[in-house]
Amino acid sequence: MRIRHVLAHEADRLREIRLRSLASDPDAFGATYERDLALPADWWERGARRSEQGAQRTFVAVDDDDAWLGMALVRPDEESLGDAVINAMWVAPEARRQGAGRALLEACVEWARARHFRGVNLNVRIANAAARAAYDAAGFAFVRAKGDEHVLKRSLL
Ligand SMILES: CC(C)(COP(=O)(O)OP(=O)(O)OC[C@H]1O[C@@H](n2cnc3c(N)ncnc32)[C@H](O)[C@@H]1OP(=O)(O)O)[C@@H](O)C(=O)NCCC(=O)NCCS
Repeated sequence: MRIRHVLAHEADRLREIRLRSLASDPDAFGATYERDLALPADWWERGARRSEQGAQRTFVAVDDDDAWLGMALVRPDEESLGDAVINAMWVAPEARRQGAGRALLEACVEWARARHFRGVNLNVRIANAAARAAYDAAGFAFVRAKGDEHVLKRSLL
């Protein structure tokens, strides 16, 4: 497994893995399968283009045949100026516990570090023990509760 980022011509594959993640783990995300299914083609095209240009980045975990087995999006955090935020983190069930989640998180953190963000934020459902364990292992610390989620942060200072 290796990590690379989504390129501008890969909007269809981006849509496919995101929809798969929402269908597979509906309780893990704020968005729903139905909502993202209804998004227009240009929404995915914009996401793929931004990933290639680097204003935000969607990283994917790929196998030797370039099958996409995991994803994570990192971008500037509009709710916390100077920080980045990670969303849409997901690893396919058949690929879990093999380090893909850890590698995706590190790629996101490196992206943020290279762009001089002060920290990387993310939200995780309180009930999501697997994700919480993965974030703990990657050095993300509890900041505050927000509804049924915890806000976590990894400082880059
Ligand atoms: C959370 C998720 C992305 C983790 O991906 P992964 O590729 O399985 O994680 P890794 O193999 O890199 O695990 C890294 C570390 O996290 C911890 N961890 C991961 N999954 C765990 C689990 N189910 N139970 C306990 N610890 C776990 C462990 O410390 C692990 O290290 P180890 O395997 O050496 O013990 C994956 O479980 C997933 O996609 N879940 C459904 C979607 C989701 O919850 N997304 C997050 C939304 S906030």
